[in-house]
Amino acid sequence: MCGIVAYIGPKDATPFLLEGLQRLEYRGYDSAGVAVTGKGAGLKLRKAKGRVADLAATVPARFKGSTGIGHTRWATHGEPSDANAHPHLDNAGRFAVVHNGIIENADQLRARLTAEGAVFASETDTEVLVHLIAAHSAEGTDLEEAVRSSLALVVGTYGIAVLDAEQPDRIVVARNGSPIVLGIGEKEMFVASDVAALVRYTRQVVHLEDGELAVIRAEGFRTFTEDARPTTRQPSTVDWEIDSYDTAGHAHFLVKEIHEQPAAVERTLSGRLDERFATAHLGGLNMDARELRDIRRVKIIGCGSAYYAGQMGAQLIEELARIPADSEPASEFRYRNPVIEADTLYVAVSQSGETYDTLAAVQEVKRKGGRVLGVVNTVGSAIARACDGGIYLHAGPEISVASTKAFTSTVVAFALLALHFGRINDLSPADGRRIVEGLKALPGQIREILEQEKEIAELAAEYANCQGMMFIGRVRGYPVAREGAQKLKEISYVHAEAYPASELKHGPLALISPELPTVALVPDDELLDKNLTTLGEIRARAGRVLAIAHRAPDPKLANHSVLVPRNEPELDPLLLNIPLQLLAYHAAVALERDVDKPRNLAKSVTVE
Ligand code: AGP
Repeated sequence: MCGIVAYIGPKDATPFLLEGLQRLEYRGYDSAGVAVTGKGAGLKLRKAKGRVADLAATVPARFKGSTGIGHTRWATHGEPSDANAHPHLDNAGRFAVVHNGIIENADQLRARLTAEGAVFASETDTEVLVHLIAAHSAEGTDLEEAVRSSLALVVGTYGIAVLDAEQPDRIVVARNGSPIVLGIGEKEMFVASDVAALVRYTRQVVHLEDGELAVIRAEGFRTFTEDARPTTRQPSTVDWEIDSYDTAGHAHFLVKEIHEQPAAVERTLSGRLDERFATAHLGGLNMDARELRDIRRVKIIGCGSAYYAGQMGAQLIEELARIPADSEPASEFRYRNPVIEADTLYVAVSQSGETYDTLAAVQEVKRKGGRVLGVVNTVGSAIARACDGGIYLHAGPEISVASTKAFTSTVVAFALLALHFGRINDLSPADGRRIVEGLKALPGQIREILEQEKEIAELAAEYANCQGMMFIGRVRGYPVAREGAQKLKEISYVHAEAYPASELKHGPLALISPELPTVALVPDDELLDKNLTTLGEIRARAGRVLAIAHRAPDPKLANHSVLVPRNEPELDPLLLNIPLQLLAYHAAVALERDVDKPRNLAKSVTVE
């Protein structure tokens, strides 16, 4: 949520800043800004409401400086506007600050600073930081000292980068809850809130820890704690490829990522299937078989699509391992003083590894002595580091705000966990083999479904102008319906509701009309007859039905059908979800939505 970039070195900072912001735009895109400085150059600032391209159009050719910071914003305090865009300056125009996160005591600090004479130019919480830094900068004070003493007064979360026109040979950055990554170049240094902005320039990076600060100069960097104790940080190498950050000829990142799913699933499975013992190898769990046998319950926590993937995961664990499991929104869990049990295994799910509610939930479990595993895509992210062990998805970077390939890989990771658990408990070798074979078949079967894109696009165009859509599924199909409805809402802005098919007659059947079509998940399983009965009830009330099925239902029961290949019943939900991704994508395209950057949203929600 919000993107930060910074540069210091022999070159002009602006081209890197603008390109970096464009790469980070998926994190926030309601306004953007850059500030640069250089020896004796003063501070130059440009900010604009709207996209990075709008900002770039306002930056003059002679906007030069070898030290600079930039920001793309997702508004929390104050509407998107030029004034609320970052960077924010102090009244003398000497310091500039960009910030991700939330300053919780901003109101008190603002009142105090105003009383001391500071004049505020924006409604943001961030602006208190720059006035605090100015107030702590008596003659001759090092920038790092001024930043450190200012942050000591701040309650909240932040990733920040600070520029001082009087000390243009350095940038000070700090992290507490919002990521900051340093990129090491040849006599130049880069900073970003996400490696996406850095990979074109360097693969050598350092992820700051919470509570850590760094002084960046062209020749290198120095890290230290909030109480000025030096820290030692070894660079790591980023292994994600640069073309992961381009649309590679696709119209949008979203459709590219949908098509990357077979390869993403192959990577999630790679080296983890054990055919000899019909189980899964999961080295990162940091738990041996004996410890796993003692687990009596599994509680999965995540937000949005990660929570729905967790629901699918909970079903897999219950079915294959016969261990009670459920999934709960991390955003609720963290606030309800949850009872943490010693024999419960907690599993946190997050693509970004940054979602603040999920991180806070993990911290709550750990504070109470619970054990948490992470199912995370981003290596080295805050959630991954906060967990006791886990499974990395290896799905590759996901840029589009709507999650697709990470969702699918998460469910695959849960299938591996359920298989591993199951084979430690009572899952028979024959059933284990069945699941191993089913998992191996997934990439090819996803490819088969993706080949129907043209037909699904035509259906999407036909249904896109409806008043709203109902998504229904039974038991294994219900989380699929929830994810399908979420995807449609998020990117097409068509209202969608997900219901267990069994619950329709208890209320929402009243909504059924030709204007509110139903997408029904109709796998060929033991509940097929029940599902067909529900379709009959919808059709009897003039509702239109689009069935996602293994076998096309009678045309009297479904106006249209999309067929998916059959896998094992436990893994079928994964495949039933794929047409729903294409349906949402093509509905959004038909409605001319901004597919990769839907209104009001951002990729990583690093605020409460
Ligand atoms: C997914 O399409 C959404 N953009 C959103 O629900 C997302 O899954 C949620 O915010 C959690 O993100 P995370 O996986 O990065 O933690």
